[in-house]
Amino acid sequence: MTEQPPEAVPARVPAPPPAPPVVRLAEGLAYGGDYNPEQWPREVWDEDVRLMREAGVNLVTLGVFAWGTVETANGVRDWSWLDDAVDLLHRNGIGIDLATPTAAPPSWLLTAHPEIAPVLADGFREPAGGRNAWCPASPVYRRFALRHTEALAERYGRHPAVRLWHVGNELGGGNARCYCDLSAAAFRDWLQARHGSLQAVNEAWGTDQWGHRFGDWSEILPPRGRHGAPNPGLFLDYERYSSDALLSHYLAEKAVLERHSAVPVTTNLMVGAGAQIVDYASWAKHTAIAANDHYTLVDDLLREQDLAFAADRMRGISAGRRPWLLMESSTGGPSWQRRNRAKDPGEIARHSLGHVARGSDGAMFFQWRASTAGAEQFHSAMLPHSGTRSRVWREVVELGRYLKALAEVQDSTVEPARAAIVVDDLSGWALQHGLKPHRELRYGRELRTWHRALWRRQILCDVVPVDADLDGYDLVIAPTLLVVDDAAAERLRAVPERGGTLVATYLSGVCDRDGKVVTGGFPGAFREVLGAWTDEFYPLQEGERTALDNGAAVEDWTERVHLEDAEAVLRYASGSLSGGPAVTRRAVSGGAAWYVSAPLDDTTVDDLAERLAAEAGLTRTVEAEPGLEAVRRIGADHSYLFLLNHTDTDLKVAADGRDLLTDTRVGPETAVPAGGVRVLRESVRHPLE
Ligand code: GLA
Repeated sequence: MTEQPPEAVPARVPAPPPAPPVVRLAEGLAYGGDYNPEQWPREVWDEDVRLMREAGVNLVTLGVFAWGTVETANGVRDWSWLDDAVDLLHRNGIGIDLATPTAAPPSWLLTAHPEIAPVLADGFREPAGGRNAWCPASPVYRRFALRHTEALAERYGRHPAVRLWHVGNELGGGNARCYCDLSAAAFRDWLQARHGSLQAVNEAWGTDQWGHRFGDWSEILPPRGRHGAPNPGLFLDYERYSSDALLSHYLAEKAVLERHSAVPVTTNLMVGAGAQIVDYASWAKHTAIAANDHYTLVDDLLREQDLAFAADRMRGISAGRRPWLLMESSTGGPSWQRRNRAKDPGEIARHSLGHVARGSDGAMFFQWRASTAGAEQFHSAMLPHSGTRSRVWREVVELGRYLKALAEVQDSTVEPARAAIVVDDLSGWALQHGLKPHRELRYGRELRTWHRALWRRQILCDVVPVDADLDGYDLVIAPTLLVVDDAAAERLRAVPERGGTLVATYLSGVCDRDGKVVTGGFPGAFREVLGAWTDEFYPLQEGERTALDNGAAVEDWTERVHLEDAEAVLRYASGSLSGGPAVTRRAVSGGAAWYVSAPLDDTTVDDLAERLAAEAGLTRTVEAEPGLEAVRRIGADHSYLFLLNHTDTDLKVAADGRDLLTDTRVGPETAVPAGGVRVLRESVRHPLE
């Protein structure tokens, strides 16, 4: 008898459930981090909980990588240490975010079933030793992962200390794409559900080019190999499939947990600027509270703005803009960057409260106690190697005090923004892959450029997914939104028609959702509403610059733009496009539609942002110097004004209320100390609308 090949696990994602009730993880804002007691002798645990209490920790993420330390051999489980840890935390009033440890399959499983590991595009199967070493289409992995999840849920699903379930860890971090045969089979199944027929696939992907028409489903393969020129339709569908495959694994674990437990379920996303590894906006709809891991990057000169962008994006994917949770961040250098920068004094609080300002109902870290061994032995922690006599520890204790003082901020929501930036991972993926006119354009760079201009003016901006309702926004910016479906294009075109301001930047609206170019002039979907169109792209060579008539220069990308019923706000002033429009504006029934055909320098974007804000009637949260970040959260009884000074000089701002961090009365003007933070309970509650 020949052995049957295993059936691939299908990637099935049901429609998201209605938004669940708001989750409260702690009394007040959540504070804590990943706690890995299994790395330490039992006597250290008592010190851990004593110090956690000293620091005000009220929630820890437990057991994230504890599959192999509980299920020590196939079906053999030693719960004793985990039982002790759960009880110890509970006795000390510390809530638990209990993880299913499925991110790190145990060695015995990887040894018995090396086929569960993901395969790279070039056919190389990942060896054991990393994390997320599993393929979501693997039925073997799925079976073992759900078996352990079930055992965990049965044991702790009703334990009063468990406040949240944390499925796996950073799903996709290490296994975002798998190119094995099982993945190929699951991909075909997914394609059938999406397109219905092979003919529809052929049409959507335009497979007649290069004669790549498929005559049988079995001919369709993942975009393997290194040639770098996959069919764009196939490429985009593989990205979508891969996101759904991981999401369906999350949903399978969630379903098991929910059979045994009423505790809310989430997983930690990795939301930042740029294209994400999976489509987190669709994932967030399946979580009880959206949770994010955010680490500042050492070579980012404006890391606080990157942080603000990520936090604004989290709010944008969180149902009803409700509070979300910063699940991981660092107290200092991580260990996965090339040169792992420590945080400057004051940055731990400033960064953490920056997330809280923008909607996080807590601040959590990787990890509680610094490890001495293992791959992450040099990663910073709340309790560093040097112990409690360290600056980091003092700042960790201080942050705990701050978060306690801000308890009443819990459940309040960030003031509704009137500006939005539309982001779309598909557009980012499409922009950065395949044979594009310019292969070095970076989606995140364009997103950050526009966000930065609003951020430095203290103008709040939601960063929203492409399927978001745009009705409440007076200014909507769509940076390089390369692929759009009809419904999204319609929502964006409606913005100027109802009196708002729409800004589309180069390459937006050029392709449909399958990655096919829309003909008749760029940017296809927005040509009419913009009243301007492009007949040719002029990508620039490295180091080449084209002048604009405001004296600035652009790099990387220019276009030959023609006006229909728009005016030129800026023109190209050198090269073969000299005299042609670079930035255009069309007045539309009380609103305006702008087209920006090139990546502009910061000063030009700042000038435009000033004009756009005035045109859209946007107000600043406070009037202050750039570098003073200001965001307001509004609760049932009070509004709270967060003021973060990222500069090295004290900055004054008009604000009136009680500073909850120092418990002092301030106003009508206050100086926010260099590098410092104030959080005012405002004397007069700011209205919600
Ligand atoms: C990620 C992971 C953590 C840890 C940190 C280190 O966010 O989720 O387990 O590895 O990175 O920065």
